Amino acid sequence: MAYMKEAIGSSPRHSNFHPARAAGCVPCKMKPNSSSRSQLAVRRAASTTGLLFVLLLVAFTASNYSSLNTDRLIGAASSSASSTPASCDVARGEWVPDPAAPPYYTNATCPFIDSRQDCMRYGKPELHSILRWRWQPHGHGCDLPRFDAAAFLRLVRHKSMAFVGDSVARNHLQSLMCLLSSVEHPHEIDPKDCIHCTRSYHYRSHNFTATVFWTPFLVRWNLTRDGALQFMDPHNVFLDEPDPELARVTAAGYDYVVLNGAKWFTRPVVLHEGGRVLGCSGGGCGGDANVTTYVPPERAVRAAFRTALRALRGFRGSRVVVRTVAPPHYENGKWYDGGNCLRTRPVRSGDAAAELPETEAAFHAAQVEEFRAAAAGADDPGRFVLLDVSGMMQMRGDGHPGQYGHWPHEKVGFGIDCVHWCLPGPIDAWSELLLHLLTK
Ligand SMILES: *[C@@H]1O[C@H](CO)[C@@H](O)[C@H](O)[C@H]1NC(C)=O
Ligand SMILES: *[C@@H]1O[C@H](CO)[C@@H](O)[C@H](O)[C@H]1NC(C)=O
Ligand SMILES: *[C@@H]1O[C@H](CO)[C@@H](O)[C@H](O)[C@H]1NC(C)=O
Ligand SMILES: *[C@@H]1O[C@H](CO)[C@@H](O)[C@H](O)[C@H]1NC(C)=O
Repeated sequence: MAYMKEAIGSSPRHSNFHPARAAGCVPCKMKPNSSSRSQLAVRRAASTTGLLFVLLLVAFTASNYSSLNTDRLIGAASSSASSTPASCDVARGEWVPDPAAPPYYTNATCPFIDSRQDCMRYGKPELHSILRWRWQPHGHGCDLPRFDAAAFLRLVRHKSMAFVGDSVARNHLQSLMCLLSSVEHPHEIDPKDCIHCTRSYHYRSHNFTATVFWTPFLVRWNLTRDGALQFMDPHNVFLDEPDPELARVTAAGYDYVVLNGAKWFTRPVVLHEGGRVLGCSGGGCGGDANVTTYVPPERAVRAAFRTALRALRGFRGSRVVVRTVAPPHYENGKWYDGGNCLRTRPVRSGDAAAELPETEAAFHAAQVEEFRAAAAGADDPGRFVLLDVSGMMQMRGDGHPGQYGHWPHEKVGFGIDCVHWCLPGPIDAWSELLLHLLTK
């Protein structure tokens, strides 16, 4: 924590530091003197989209999970599913006003909202109107049906779904559990009180199991030295070795896998491949003066997806869903110098703000290409499903907690989270898309 405060205290605001990528810095020489070295590490870290520190700091905050063992049935939700022409590309479209539709759930009706994403409770301004938009794919007749909790649970009866990835995978699962809470509440199997760990939930009436696997890089990783701080210090990332959790997913016979990941590659990481050090990625080398090669983070993301999708060849379930990167939205600064996400409505598809930033665009391209390669190499290409949320979420800078994931007087990380998504909020559309794609 002391290091973290220091890192934030020594804000790079007044430095003329340029991100390693922008400067075309290959290789990146580390300064020999240790104080400038650690400063450099801090600046490197700061130079990224700011994601990593949000992730780290959020991780430090208390996890006040509501008890997840309520097991009750509330009435049944229903909505009529409209049919969508097969040619529709549901990833492209527009957010359109939907003033009549009530939110699927509230902070009072869903007990699975992580307090750090409980924007209703903490009074995010204009949330009422932020919640009244629906995703309208382009093209005549290309409607995305509202989420139908009963239909989802019918589909997954006696089945299991693994969410594999980082904290946004957990954010997605908690959104899904809230959407399903109108029909059934799960209980946690072997309850835990931790954030960066694997957790599993069972829906007794439908015998449906949902698990979130903590695999921030999708490939094997460890800390570069004993006693390092898990969230602050650089990680070794072994790009050609799948995270051991993936073997558990395959062995346990899950029916569905929803895979994501990218953000952690913007942290200080030392990349390994083929038994040797490849270089450092997005957040720099974290002070390791022996590594002098800079590797663009999208190169690492591509390798990690390739390795993970290869590891899932042994997966006998019915669908492997690849969820693309969900962009953060720090504006008018970064996480460390006043950046925030204060928008209160979506942007339109033609707007400059609807374009993915360079880093996220490169992550997206790597993910989509690896998805296509995996699908092309499969006996049944239909087993692979692309949940392409990047474009639609880029338009939703209004969907993050910002400073409304805690009370103003509370110190939660450094306060402003423009990475995770409010519950309820536009992230709920991911499950609309997921249900649509799984029933297509
Ligand atoms: C839900 O949020 C409202 C404010 O919008 C607050 O008054 C209420 O206490 C919250 N309820 C819970 C259960 O958090
Ligand atoms: C529950 O579902 C699992 C598969 O996820 C299956 O193996 C098991 O037999 C089911 N249990 C019951 C009681 O149907
Ligand atoms: C991380 O893994 C590598 C390779 O397996 C190993 O050599 C190293 O000792 C590990 N690091 C720590 C801190 O355990
Ligand atoms: C860098 O390399 C030298 C010589 O091989 C070694 O003694 C030192 O421990 C290395 N430093 C780090 C941070 O790995």
